[in-house]
Amino acid sequence: MKSLLIRGGTVVNADREQRADVLCVNGVIAEVGEQLSAPLGATLIEAGGQYVMPGGIDPHTHMNFPFMGTRTVDDFYSGTAAGLAGGTTSIIDFVIPDPQQPLMDAYRQWRQWAEVAASDYSFHVAITWWGESVHADMGTLVREEGVNSFKHFMAYKNAIMCDDETLVNSFRRALALGAMPTVHAENGELVFLLQQEMKTQGITGPEGHPLSRPPAVEAEAAQRAIAIADVLNVPIYVVHVSSAETAEAIARARARGQRVYGEVLAGHLVVDDSVYRDPSFEFAAAHVMSPPFRAKGHQEALWRHLQAGALQTTATDHCTFCAAQKAAGRLDFSKIPNGTGGVEERMAVLWDAGVNSGRLTPSEFVSVTSANAAKLFNLYPRKGCVAKGADADLVVWDPAGTKTFSAASQHSKGDFNIFEGRTVTGVPSHTISQGTVVFAQGELRAEAGAGRYIKRPAFGPQFTALGRKAALAAPVAVAR
Ligand code: URP
Ligand code: ZN
Ligand code: ZN
Ligand code: ZN
Repeated sequence: MKSLLIRGGTVVNADREQRADVLCVNGVIAEVGEQLSAPLGATLIEAGGQYVMPGGIDPHTHMNFPFMGTRTVDDFYSGTAAGLAGGTTSIIDFVIPDPQQPLMDAYRQWRQWAEVAASDYSFHVAITWWGESVHADMGTLVREEGVNSFKHFMAYKNAIMCDDETLVNSFRRALALGAMPTVHAENGELVFLLQQEMKTQGITGPEGHPLSRPPAVEAEAAQRAIAIADVLNVPIYVVHVSSAETAEAIARARARGQRVYGEVLAGHLVVDDSVYRDPSFEFAAAHVMSPPFRAKGHQEALWRHLQAGALQTTATDHCTFCAAQKAAGRLDFSKIPNGTGGVEERMAVLWDAGVNSGRLTPSEFVSVTSANAAKLFNLYPRKGCVAKGADADLVVWDPAGTKTFSAASQHSKGDFNIFEGRTVTGVPSHTISQGTVVFAQGELRAEAGAGRYIKRPAFGPQFTALGRKAALAAPVAVAR
């Protein structure tokens, strides 16, 4: 028997805070209560003055991702280890088949790549093309492999972009399977056109990246996906919402009663688009990710929508490329591999800029860093909750601890940090994964291969509600 007792802290769940000890036995939370006694041989953590919260869930990462002619520098080990150092104990990554590649082949490939993960992980699967085998494989993935969400890239023309026909077919299939469709919302045709126009005008540097992907390009795609989902009566989750316009589109749809969900990245909440006009190519290129960082003003709008509940989850889109890889686009910004890091920093950025500023309560912090993702992707309360029977994935949070982010000291293998120089107050003192202390007072003890693939059952509660609504609104023929 392997046990761990976390004593004297304040347990924070999405619904409340309480003074309680947490006892973990064999990887599961055995008890949450006052004055718990430690079993013989138990590991002890004294958490006085600290918060004990569910470990973070990052619902959007790309480890070991072959993309734009290269591959991310963080594999599933280094990426999840970095997450653990920052209090994130689960990631949901993406299987992204090439167009025409059988889904199951790509799925098996990603499962193999992920075997070195240090924390628990799960997969969304991208639908990059349509055909009978895709229809069939979606069923196999949901019923046999525990996949309950499918991703659709509305951008990246001539690569992984899917057209409306694929969106419609896939959304409908996802609904029948009880799986959540998700979208990367950017109009890929407009991006392609604007990229050519920028280059014709002699704009070849990274400043061309945001100029070819303005907020309306994102909002158009988001509104189209939301409208398609509305017609098909399917829920929809918009990943990496970066602009006020897109957040407003989600808020409007929700106000109409539609089941639309939005994710915001830690980076989009605190970084603005001035980075692309930096005279250093390396600095500007290191920030190239899609959708791009936005003009000042959008960050505040995203915070407000997160606070108001139009956006429910926070993620990172952790997708790291080093300077040598980014240099592929030195003469043409559209060839800079898209992606930035953040899996290690997300929780502390959210605490520092969210809780310390009064935008979020500690319980709301738990909602947006773990509980809501767990609910939407049907992992709750196994993950995202400090309660008896849940996985012992926890973070002991020191609200007085400080840290200054830097590429020089990060655990990610990337050579850049988009939060470089930012000092935060509120950091993890301990991270616990499956009941084992994997990070303690700055010391990382991640173990390659210790992470497990987590199956996620289909038909989360929102599907029952949608089904009832659809049944009541079923069309009726006129008897003549
Ligand atoms: O620029 C980004 N976000 N790279 C990763 C792929 C994606 O679009 O999520
Ligand atoms: Zn994306
Ligand atoms: Zn992504
Ligand atoms: Zn490199």
